[in-house]
Amino acid sequence: MMSNDIERISFSADEIRMRVQELGAEIARDYRDDPEPIYCVGILKGAAVFFTDLVRAIDHPVAFDFMIVSSYGEATVSSGQVKLLKDLDFSIEGKHVIIVEDIIDSGTTMHYLKQMLKGRHPKSIKICAFLSKPSRRVAPVEIDYLGHEVPDDFLVGYGLDYAEKYRNLPYIGVLKRSVYE
Ligand code: PRP
Ligand code: MN
Ligand code: MG
Repeated sequence: MMSNDIERISFSADEIRMRVQELGAEIARDYRDDPEPIYCVGILKGAAVFFTDLVRAIDHPVAFDFMIVSSYGEATVSSGQVKLLKDLDFSIEGKHVIIVEDIIDSGTTMHYLKQMLKGRHPKSIKICAFLSKPSRRVAPVEIDYLGHEVPDDFLVGYGLDYAEKYRNLPYIGVLKRSVYE
């Protein structure tokens, strides 16, 4: 599935699959001494695709929950303000939580989420992101499980969108400038 709007592929579906398996194995290893479920919190909509792959790669009990937040809307740069559109269904007090994101860019979304969820007294809270763009960071974020660091390219696919498009591409690619300029 190659879109004409893609300049080049950054991570193929196979490369993604391999890295997700490694992340899942790393997570299962880190929690193996505690039989309690890991509350994986997917941040919709971007994390939807990565989330469903990741949880199936974790050989440990996992509970699902989701939040919907948006800071970009249809813009290409973060508004700097995070809108909480859907909160968790469950209390995370005393639970092991992993926040799952497709990408950490300026860090605004994750900084906001971690502060907020920390305040609900989980037993532990960690961050798992498939991609990170450290060169764009505005708010500090410590990532516990990271798929790949990436340069400041406009990436889409595997959950990442531009104006809600391209999320279903099975690979991650650089969007042609002509599409958004
Ligand atoms: C994107 C991405 C992260 C966030 C990262 O979500 O999925 O959640 O931006 O950017 P930041 O580190 O600069 O905050 P977006 O707000 O576009 O919503 P979406 O997940 O529905 O695409
Ligand atoms: Mn998002
Ligand atoms: Mg988006």
